[in-house]
Parts: sequence; C-alpha cells; structure tokens
Amino acid sequence: MGKIIAVAQHKGGTGKTTTCINLGASLSNMGKRVLLVDLDPQASLTVSVGINPLEVEKSIHQVLIGPGVEMKNAVLTRPNINFSVVPSHVDLAMAEAELAGRIGREKVLQKKLTPMKYEYDYIFIDCPPTLGILVANALVAADSVLIPIQCEPLTLYGVKNLLQVINLIREEVNPSLKIEGVLRTMLDRRTKLSKEVSESIQQTFGNLVFATIIYRHVKFAEGPIHEKPIEFYASKSPGAEEYQNLAKELLAHEG
Ligand SMILES: Nc1ncnc2c1ncn2[C@@H]1O[C@H](COP(=O)(O)OP(=O)(O)OP(=O)(O)O)[C@@H](O)[C@H]1O
Ligand SMILES: [Mg+2]
Repeated sequence: MGKIIAVAQHKGGTGKTTTCINLGASLSNMGKRVLLVDLDPQASLTVSVGINPLEVEKSIHQVLIGPGVEMKNAVLTRPNINFSVVPSHVDLAMAEAELAGRIGREKVLQKKLTPMKYEYDYIFIDCPPTLGILVANALVAADSVLIPIQCEPLTLYGVKNLLQVINLIREEVNPSLKIEGVLRTMLDRRTKLSKEVSESIQQTFGNLVFATIIYRHVKFAEGPIHEKPIEFYASKSPGAEEYQNLAKELLAHEG
C-alpha cells in the first residue's frame, strides 16, 4: 500500500511545488512509483512539468466536482518526467464554493485518491498556500504532511495556522494524520539571518525537522524553463543531491 503525503504550508512561495516535483523525481529514480496531484488552482506544478492546463481533458477539478470522474481518468504521463501527474486547472479556484454546500465536503479527495494507493508507492499532494476546503481535503486524504518552511523571517507564522488546522482535522476526521517532517528550504548560505531562522526552526520543531536542508539555488528558478525536474537536466548539481538526500530520509521513515 502506498502513502499519501500532503505538501502544505499556509504561506506562498515556500517551495511546496518544487519539493513535490524534485522529491517525486528522486523517489522515482530510486524505483518508487510516484504520483503528484496538483491541488493548486495556480497549476504551477502542472505547468512546470510542461503540461498546458488549458489543454488537459480531465483535471483534478473534474475529479472532485464532476460525477463519475475517477482519479485514474485524470492521470497523465509525459516522456520528460518519470512520475505521473494529475493536472490542475484554473477552474479549481471555484471548487471551494462548489464543495461548500456538500455533505462530506472534506472527504471528496480521500474517496477519490485512496484507491490509487494500490497503484503508487508515494502520492504527493501539492497544496495551495491557503487553508480552505481544498487543503482540508488534502489533510483528510493524507497519511502525513510535509511542511516546507522558507528560511526567512516571519515564516513561522504560517506554520502556526497550519498546525492548528492539522490538529482540528485530527480531532474531527483523520486521527492518524502524521507530520512527515518540516523541511527547511531556500536557505541562503550568505546571510546570517537565514541561518538564524534555520536554527529557530530546529529549536521549535526538534526531531520533526529533516536533517536535509534545501539551499537556495538559481537552478530551481530555471526549472519551469526546462519543463523537467532538476534531477534530469542537472542531476549532479547540489540542489538535485539535496532532494536525493531528502528522498533517502523519507525512505528511512518507513524503517
Ligand atoms: N531551493 C530553491 N532555491 C531557489 N529558488 C527556489 C528554490 N525552491 C523554489 N524556488 C523558486 O521559488 C519560487 C517559489 O517556489 P515554489 O513554487 O516551489 O513555492 P510554492 O510554495 O509552491 O509556492 P505557492 O505557494 O505559490 O504554490 C519558484 O520560482 C521556484 O522556482
Ligand atoms: Mg506551489
């Protein structure tokens, strides 16, 4: 049985999408079957792997809203990537309102995604930087949450909100939801402040923090241009190696 990991943080631009893509690519290179679900109406993950959201036939939006559309109907593969993707579409922005009045509105994704645990070893859900119904759906469907925190000041506020929601979801719907780990991202070696934030994350979250740190690398900003994970166009670069180390840490969690 596979594992569903929601990659979430109540703050924009903390490396959620970059982590899904590069951790997914690393695990896939290690022989794991990986599915990435783009749950963000911005569709950054979809675009970053070279899929045009406007041209996809079935997106996560239809899976969640449309009657009779199953997750497997929306799965795409591409020659430039070694994992499968369920693409997003800008229409997903309407899903919050569309789901609002439904009974069991937080469980829609769980119902659709759970069968996929038989097909994949790792399923990552790339969450939007919000805390609405979409993210609630991700946290209900997930076995665990991976929280990327940017090593910059004020970044810990977003985590506090997310942790509150995680606790609520545990109390109400998904008591076995775990925190897979807190990932320090975009650490800038040149600034003292960045290192200080990294240390305060370590103090706050203790052994929940991954030993692997993702440093700031220009190559990641180039990712969308290449339309493939760094693993493929610069597998020997420090950034790619950091995500390979993260993948090893994640595998070690399974014991
Ligand atoms: N380690 C890194 N070094 C340098 N740039 C990075 C790194 N990780 C991500 N980036 C860049 O930072 C920006 C934000 O990253 P990303 O899209 O992964 O964040 P996000 O948390 O998914 O954002 P959003 O909340 O908007 O979904 C992107 O332009 C990405 O290319
Ligand atoms: Mg994103």
